[in-house]
Amino acid sequence: MSNTEVLSLFPETAASLGGRLSIGGVAASELAATYGTPLLVYDEATIRSSARAYRAAAPNVHIHFGSKAFPNVEVLRILREEGIGADVASLGELAFAQRAGYTGAEIVVHGNNKSDAELAAAAAVGALVAIDSLEELDRAKAAGIERGILRITPGIDADTHEAIRTAHHGSKFGVPPEVALDAIRHAPWLEGLHTHIGSQLFDAGAALMTADWIAAFAARARTETGWTPKTIDIGGGLGVATAPEDPRPSIHDFAGQVAAELERAWAEHGLPPVAVMMEPGRSLVGRAGVTLYSVGTVKQAADGTTYVAVDGGMSDNPRRALYQARYTAVLADRVDDETVGRFTVAGKHCESGDVLIDRVELPEPHRGDVLAVPATGAYTLSMASNYNALLRPAAVLVADGHARLIRRRETLDDLFALES
Ligand code: LLP
Repeated sequence: MSNTEVLSLFPETAASLGGRLSIGGVAASELAATYGTPLLVYDEATIRSSARAYRAAAPNVHIHFGSKAFPNVEVLRILREEGIGADVASLGELAFAQRAGYTGAEIVVHGNNKSDAELAAAAAVGALVAIDSLEELDRAKAAGIERGILRITPGIDADTHEAIRTAHHGSKFGVPPEVALDAIRHAPWLEGLHTHIGSQLFDAGAALMTADWIAAFAARARTETGWTPKTIDIGGGLGVATAPEDPRPSIHDFAGQVAAELERAWAEHGLPPVAVMMEPGRSLVGRAGVTLYSVGTVKQAADGTTYVAVDGGMSDNPRRALYQARYTAVLADRVDDETVGRFTVAGKHCESGDVLIDRVELPEPHRGDVLAVPATGAYTLSMASNYNALLRPAAVLVADGHARLIRRRETLDDLFALES
């Protein structure tokens, strides 16, 4: 595994300057020294260029950020500046979007079990709402929702971990096609259709199939009910490489191909023009984020495994424990040093499943070294917990040689604030 291969997983501005990892023009180990570890470092340039890649590849498509990937006010503000809307799935995510300046139709509200309060809040801001069930149609109408799209389950098995597949038969999301036709007859006020087939997709295959499927369904709905969708939200799902062996999906290719296929299929069915939306989460922020840890204990187990324990773990990145996600890492101040073997990076939690990286080649690691794990900008801090009463990490944004805190580290007082 060459350095260039590993560095290409890091943000666009990442470089080895004399063996020291630098991101956004700032040395990673300096960031660790200033802000402490574990630390999430976000590269502003990579966030902006990911947003621009979507906009350039699909200029007629409205792009909404799946904010669950990293709901952060400053990141949302940056994406809003880039012309990206917000996809929210709870009152909390809605509040983050609003704090970042999002209003009205810039927001799309999701959820398979929206509370009355969530529906009321969506109505109050004038958001577009993805309706998830027949029952929710009437509740949404009663709550004063004016713009709704119906989430539909095409029965397409996306090629990804089963926990993040969402459009197969049996999914808890959306409604099957037959039920969708009933819903449309019952609620012709619906503006369009939504589908999201899954997450961490490495190629466009399933998404292209979905584009064809939804156009065929729209044509069928038009014939059988006389209703025609004015809006299609085709979801998110594009993956991010987190390990050297992963394919490197291209935002430009994926978004361009899916938009073109939808347009082609729409025309093939003779359907009138439609507004198209996409809602990528991971691919907008995943590569932009790097997690820095400090190395603590290094020791060998009876089977020969050498453990490198770091000061975080499954509480700041549960993805290997949940989805067997693979990651890699470098020692931030010895990027160009020869590696001496394969190490297992473990967290500091009280269970054996608390492993962040199964085997990674590193130079000899020592206590105090900063370990940098790339491609951790999505679904890490947003899924972080306080397991073992660990404090959730801080996040900084780097650009042009400067860093600023965009989320402070938790303190013990934060934890005690919840106790009676
Ligand atoms: N739209 C909807 C309706 C979604 O449910 C999701 C993600 C997205 C858009 C954005 O998908 P993305 O582009 O990020 O794949 N925690 C898991 C991922 C769960 C995805 C949930 N829904 C993980 O760490 O892999």
